[in-house]
Amino acid sequence: MTEQVIIFDTTLRDGEQSPGISLNGEEKLEIADQLARLGVNVIEAGFPVASQGDFEAVYAIAKSVQGPTICGLSRSALKDIDRCWEAIEPAESRRIHTFIATSPTHMEHKLRMTPEQVKQEARLAVRHARSYTEDVEFSPEDASRSDFDFMCEVLQVAVDEGATTLNIPDTVGYGVPEDYANKLRLIRERISGDYVISTHCHNDLGLAVANSLAGVMAGARQVECAINGIGERAGNAALEEITMAIKTRSDYYNGLDVSINTQELNRTSRLVSRLTGYPVQYNKAVVGRNAFAHESGIHQHGVLRERTTYEIMDPGAVGQGESQIVLGKHSGRFAFSDRLKQLGYDLEGDSLNAAFERFKELADRKIQLSDADLEAIVADEIKGVDNQAFSLEFLECHGGNIASGIPSATVIIKVGDEQRTVRKEGNGMVDATCSAIKEATGIYGTLNNYTVNSVTGGVDALADVALRFTTEDGIEVAGRGLSTDVVEASARAFLNAANKAASVRAKGQSSSKEDRPGHLSDQLR
Ligand code: KIV
Ligand code: ZN
Repeated sequence: MTEQVIIFDTTLRDGEQSPGISLNGEEKLEIADQLARLGVNVIEAGFPVASQGDFEAVYAIAKSVQGPTICGLSRSALKDIDRCWEAIEPAESRRIHTFIATSPTHMEHKLRMTPEQVKQEARLAVRHARSYTEDVEFSPEDASRSDFDFMCEVLQVAVDEGATTLNIPDTVGYGVPEDYANKLRLIRERISGDYVISTHCHNDLGLAVANSLAGVMAGARQVECAINGIGERAGNAALEEITMAIKTRSDYYNGLDVSINTQELNRTSRLVSRLTGYPVQYNKAVVGRNAFAHESGIHQHGVLRERTTYEIMDPGAVGQGESQIVLGKHSGRFAFSDRLKQLGYDLEGDSLNAAFERFKELADRKIQLSDADLEAIVADEIKGVDNQAFSLEFLECHGGNIASGIPSATVIIKVGDEQRTVRKEGNGMVDATCSAIKEATGIYGTLNNYTVNSVTGGVDALADVALRFTTEDGIEVAGRGLSTDVVEASARAFLNAANKAASVRAKGQSSSKEDRPGHLSDQLR
């Protein structure tokens, strides 16, 4: 027999109180619809007395969103409760959530009330709320810093007046798991009556989820939480983390479950992020873009063989699609060749080694390599000539504006066992580099065409240089080069063309278009 933990979503109330977030009615409705799709049990839709806009949004949600109970928050003032009721009344299932602070500091400095006045206020508020609905939640604000005995007196009054949920807010995120759980256990022992106990934990010490889950182990059967953990200051407990902890560790949370449709988690997270303008941190648990991404070679090898080696959740189960193998400098040959296979390139032996070496070299300079980058590497490495006469060992150039002097480049080109070092000046760094390569290789001629494309977007995109070159003896060749640096990409393209020209010469082939090795377009592809 499983027991349900009620998921009370406060994205639209506490979440909306995050600094800088202000959702309009339409946006709130869109989020509420998605929360219903996600399967939350209660939506705290807003604080109706706070503004006309908040009232209207709660009203609209109450009127149209089907499934979850629609809850409005209200201070203990009776007119606030009236307004709250007015806003949620159209809902099929509705709840009034009323609260008053019970900690010494709040009572003295904020409320300016004595403890007795606070107790009386709580009594009247719950009584009034109960005159509207049978579903009333009561919260002693700043519970963690309240005198425990006094807070229990107030809680007993609330239950006696008909509160059906007792929410214990760790308003300022002061609680720690064991202590918070012990308090909940004691409350359950001391307060008699029929009520559900609820957690509401803030994240000031990064403990909101841990405290909420400790509360569940202590008997809480409602968790108040928000999508992406948004909320006042450091936020609330993150709904997606609470959900996946209870589901993934069902062995530990024995017999407990939540009604959340987990496949909607990622979509909900993205919607809330987009509408609130609050980004989701990359490494955020469950919904972060790196939550199922693997970069180290050892991890990639493991995941490619068997996903569960490094994943405790199925990314598909939370709407994140598939595990991601991110190709970067920590990746191994296994993941590299696997990705190439998926892209349709089945490389082996020397071709694979050459492409992998080039990949490592580029990955050292570029954080991640996209599929487009990989395809370009393969084209660059594999479509080159078989036996390379020349290879680039070193390149250094000097450039700038007119004040920095004449552009120059120094290259070291390996020709057989020999290393040739040449320094040249030019009208730009690319020109100087090509002149230096010409002298080092002895391949002179005319550059007919030169284009640079960026393989992907961003400042770290790979430059893809394609050129056409006609040697002095009439051999027309194409060259292509790839690098994060435009000058190096140009040098590689030029050398690629020079190698082809040398190969044609070595084979004694003619330079006529009909019998040269492959058409130019093939070489460039
Ligand atoms: O953090 C808090 O105390 C609250 C209450 C209104 C429940 O948000
Ligand atoms: Zn709160």
